[in-house]
Amino acid sequence: MALLFLSPDDPADLWRREIASRMPDLGFRIWPEVGDPAEIEVALVWRPPPGELRRYPNLKAVLSLGAGVDGLLADQELPDVPVARMVDPSLRRTMIEYVLLAVLRHHRGFDRFEREQRARRWAYAFPPQAAERRVGVMGLGELGGAAAGLLADHGFQVLGWSRSPKAIDGVTSHAGRGELRTFLHRTEILVCLLPLTAETRGILDAAAFADLPHGACLINVARGEHLVEADLIEALDSGRLAGATLDVFREEPLPEDHPLWAHQKVLITPHVASYSWPATGADGVVENIRRALSGRPLAHQVDRAKGY
Ligand SMILES: NC(=O)c1ccc[n+]([C@@H]2O[C@H](COP(=O)([O-])OP(=O)(O)OC[C@H]3O[C@@H](n4cnc5c(N)ncnc54)[C@H](OP(=O)(O)O)[C@@H]3O)[C@@H](O)[C@H]2O)c1
Repeated sequence: MALLFLSPDDPADLWRREIASRMPDLGFRIWPEVGDPAEIEVALVWRPPPGELRRYPNLKAVLSLGAGVDGLLADQELPDVPVARMVDPSLRRTMIEYVLLAVLRHHRGFDRFEREQRARRWAYAFPPQAAERRVGVMGLGELGGAAAGLLADHGFQVLGWSRSPKAIDGVTSHAGRGELRTFLHRTEILVCLLPLTAETRGILDAAAFADLPHGACLINVARGEHLVEADLIEALDSGRLAGATLDVFREEPLPEDHPLWAHQKVLITPHVASYSWPATGADGVVENIRRALSGRPLAHQVDRAKGY
């Protein structure tokens, strides 16, 4: 009975320690030193090479180290076993911190002040109130729902858009494609926290930007493929959009010669919006390992048909 750990980005030794303290009898194999593939019953992974997971004949579940499972589900050879995504308090906490920081930066004009500073200009501007600002959050799941709630607590007018209607205190819910335009028309700062699926790929495009009020800002912390980067650059250059904060990109790392690096109205962070710490994530992972080994349904199981 062993777990396969496969991630180029996560601290294997910390995960081993946290899992071993909760399940001392479980073998912990760090890819590519997997031992006998038949002993692997659960895989804890981030971006495994396509086809890799079909090498384990007794695999009972795949647990993602990330909240997004688009990369995993894109593997045409992914075994037909339950897949669960990461839900962890530290992932939620760090994401809502990032979103609040980025929203406040646009709301209070820090993006403008940074440009003015470079030009040595004292550009006094009367600050608006949070209650006058409409922030729209696309995706109201574990992360988007928490971010929308925090923004509402902070005093912003918050709108949300999801597939099904939601009841979150202080958040006006919009649901489905039919309500997307109304949601965008009302949104001054747009936050994308959607999963990447066939339905959401390229959703942040020229048509969406045209539906936002003039001078709106974009914060994309979901996936690079949600955004049509050329449409964003055009919207920023025309003044249609006033600024953008981008944490995720179609190609990561963002190539050195990419025009977004030098754009005056764009803040780039290198896919750091949120993190999952083994110390807080391990409880949920271990619960799912136990469920998988005893044949029970996983918590936070991905609906493969929906893609999230
Ligand atoms: N940048 C980073 O560091 C980072 C870190 C973690 C996660 N992420 C990204 O954040 C995403 C969201 O994570 P999560 O845990 O909050 O996901 P989640 O709990 O699965 O929530 C997804 C939300 O999106 C909505 N949605 C899905 N498809 C939709 C559609 N076609 N139209 C409208 N709404 C739709 C869902 O609506 P329903 O509730 O009605 O189903 C749900 O509210 C992840 O998939 C990942 O890509 C980024």
